[in-house]
Amino acid sequence: MKTKWNAHLYDQKHDFVSKFGESLVEVLAPQENEWILDVGCGTGDLAQEIASHGAFVQGTDASQDMIRAAQQKYPTIEFSTIEAAAMHFTNQFDAVFSNAALHWMKQQNKVIQNIYNALKPNGRFVAEMGGHGNIASIVGAIKESMSTLNYAYNEDYFPWYFPTIEEYETILETVGFTIETITLYERPTTLSGEDGLRNWLKMFSHNILQDLIDFEKEQVYTKCEEILKPAYYQNDEWIADYCRLRFVATKI
Ligand code: BEZ
Repeated sequence: MKTKWNAHLYDQKHDFVSKFGESLVEVLAPQENEWILDVGCGTGDLAQEIASHGAFVQGTDASQDMIRAAQQKYPTIEFSTIEAAAMHFTNQFDAVFSNAALHWMKQQNKVIQNIYNALKPNGRFVAEMGGHGNIASIVGAIKESMSTLNYAYNEDYFPWYFPTIEEYETILETVGFTIETITLYERPTTLSGEDGLRNWLKMFSHNILQDLIDFEKEQVYTKCEEILKPAYYQNDEWIADYCRLRFVATKI
């Protein structure tokens, strides 16, 4: 199933994705007149942040809906709809940037090869993605809810890749990257409001729940809330157990 993104809902309810990403832009440290590729740019907020440092940014995303929204918000930046596994850039960019996107991509080896090819020699790759253990409690609650409600859970519908440090080091080094830093860290993330978890599930669990009708999905959301509430709902806010894999690698 191809993931369908709702760019409006994403901007309204999930802008925390780009807010947390801001410190990754500091790690990137974009310089004036650099050419920077933003892979999985979503609705373009971080591409704009990078461009505000005087860099030329090319934003790419597999979702046409996201790219349309990005282009509308930031008409002076170049955006294109393309899957990272199908990119054909060659020695063009001083840096490649990616925030909260790589874990959605199935063909990791191809994607990392294409990013390597896109960089000029000595170019840097600065990225953050969901890493090993990411949203483990939410995934666990979805499975438990489906089991309790007698709905079949299909492992093939799991849309994400959350690697360990070692797994990703291998992928990066195999195509020729030198790893400067790589770290896996817990970053509990607030899903604001009483409906925070439900909104998150509506936005992101549609692959896993694709065989259910709307009423059945609502049952799963309610069950997940019951399961997670004691540990993950505090002071009127939901907390999602995000774990980030962040790295800087260089094309030598
Ligand atoms: C993440 O950024 O870790 C993430 C976001 C949505 C679904 C799954 C993971």
